[in-house]
Amino acid sequence: MTNRTSLPSWQALQKHALLNKDKKINALFNEDANRFNEFSIELPMMLLDFSKNLISKDTFEKLIDLANECDIATWRNKLFTGAAINQTENRPVLHTALRDLNSRFSNEHDKNVANEIRDSLVKMETFTNQVRNATWKGHTGKAIIDVVNIGVGGSNLGPQMATQALKNYSDDQIKVHYVSNVDASQITDILAPLHPETTLFIISSKTFTTNETMTNANIALAWLRQENIKDCQIKQHVVAVTANKSNACKFGIAEENIFDMWDGVGGRFSLWSAIGLPIALYLGFDRFKELLEGAFELDEHFYHAPIEKNAPIILALISVWNCTFLGAKSQAILPYDQPLHMLSAYLQQAEMESNGKSVNWYGERINYPTVPSIWGTLGINGQHAFYQYLHQSNNVVPADFIGSVNSHGCHDKSHDILLSNLFAQTRALMVGRSEEEVRQEMSECGHEQSYINYVAAHKVHQGNRPTNTILLNVISPRTIGSLIALYEHKIFVQGIILQIFSFDQWGVEMGKGLAASIEKSLSKDLTESNFDSSTKALMNYYQSRKAQ
Ligand code: F6P
Repeated sequence: MTNRTSLPSWQALQKHALLNKDKKINALFNEDANRFNEFSIELPMMLLDFSKNLISKDTFEKLIDLANECDIATWRNKLFTGAAINQTENRPVLHTALRDLNSRFSNEHDKNVANEIRDSLVKMETFTNQVRNATWKGHTGKAIIDVVNIGVGGSNLGPQMATQALKNYSDDQIKVHYVSNVDASQITDILAPLHPETTLFIISSKTFTTNETMTNANIALAWLRQENIKDCQIKQHVVAVTANKSNACKFGIAEENIFDMWDGVGGRFSLWSAIGLPIALYLGFDRFKELLEGAFELDEHFYHAPIEKNAPIILALISVWNCTFLGAKSQAILPYDQPLHMLSAYLQQAEMESNGKSVNWYGERINYPTVPSIWGTLGINGQHAFYQYLHQSNNVVPADFIGSVNSHGCHDKSHDILLSNLFAQTRALMVGRSEEEVRQEMSECGHEQSYINYVAAHKVHQGNRPTNTILLNVISPRTIGSLIALYEHKIFVQGIILQIFSFDQWGVEMGKGLAASIEKSLSKDLTESNFDSSTKALMNYYQSRKAQ
């Protein structure tokens, strides 16, 4: 039982952080003309530039020591060979097996799983082709043109993020819609323009118990039944993806319409499984396979590359450096590509549900900062909203800037402007603007000295804000597969370094249970209930003012 804080590399980093926290990233560039080459990694499909972080060669060596002392290599082997590394649930972690199409990583131990995954992919492919070539028809014999995915969290964010990211690869034969919210206005709006005879629902729920999803699934069935669809015809309009086949059958899904999922695939890592069915229906199965292949290429990089050239390991080390050792509390994800507009929301779940914990592997309370809160939106929109905070607030927010070299848009000039903004922001966040520079600029512009004295301090940008930049060659199924896998492995490595179990999510259970009990109590007299006075009053207020 070694707590990370007792590792020599951890202690060395703590001292090093204290000594170097006031150093300037910009100065490190001035000291070393080769800095970009040392602190960047070029992969076949993307470039990772991590040079604009407060790291020197010395820092980097210490971080590599930390990775070695945390024995990342052994944990990585465990991940790829199906060891039960989701220890609190005693499960293997299988998302990499889902994209290992030629079983290059799997060993004897997971042969059964590999076979099941292969069978599931074949079933997905057959179904995708049937729907897309209209051999799978609705109950009146018409082709399916709208697919509605009902699911929440990992059963929604991954497929929705990927379909939006890859919309330029769709032939628009099938339109895909996503219902995640138990606020019925969402499903009502989505269903309003659709026709039951040409609509297919995918009920996506690993557990097939999630209240929001089950409620929406019932609304969907009722919507189909309104059109006098007979029970025996419903199966042409409803399929399910789940690890809980018996619940899905009880719900009324035809057994042959159930796509498997596995306990070992966490919701937030599941878009590679049949949870990705809407992606396949939208893009065609070949494109879905390219997504898996892209992820697999990153898996190979993660597995084989030495630590100092290993992109996900480096990203994890940088995040630990910025948050645990330098004290950053949040991290922004800033895509400069319209199709990636859901990436921040997706990574928010991936990282925060995985590592947003405060107890270590031994059940002890962790006494060092762990992972940051993740937030962000499209960079360009953010520039005109919250970048003020990034540049001048008291809080340093490390940020990942993500863009692509080649655009799908037909206006080259726009893409040049977009990328110029990305490059400008990472540089501005780093170099900042000193009071001296502000004063000089203002006086060159002819401002009066009294105004300069008054406003100069407000125009200072402290700079020294760390950023990573990831440039994809182009947004494609392969590069998106790689990008997501890059972050998945970063999250995994971060969990190991911080001694956090990344693959459970106990913290979401309490709220779910309480919502269920509050729902039951809503219509009851609460005088004798144990709820606190605020909760009781809110429930009473709601009940008494609710239109009957
Ligand atoms: O809210 C937590 C969670 O369990 C996520 O981990 C999961 O992705 C989501 O709910 C949906 O769960 P299910 O797929 O079982 O409906």
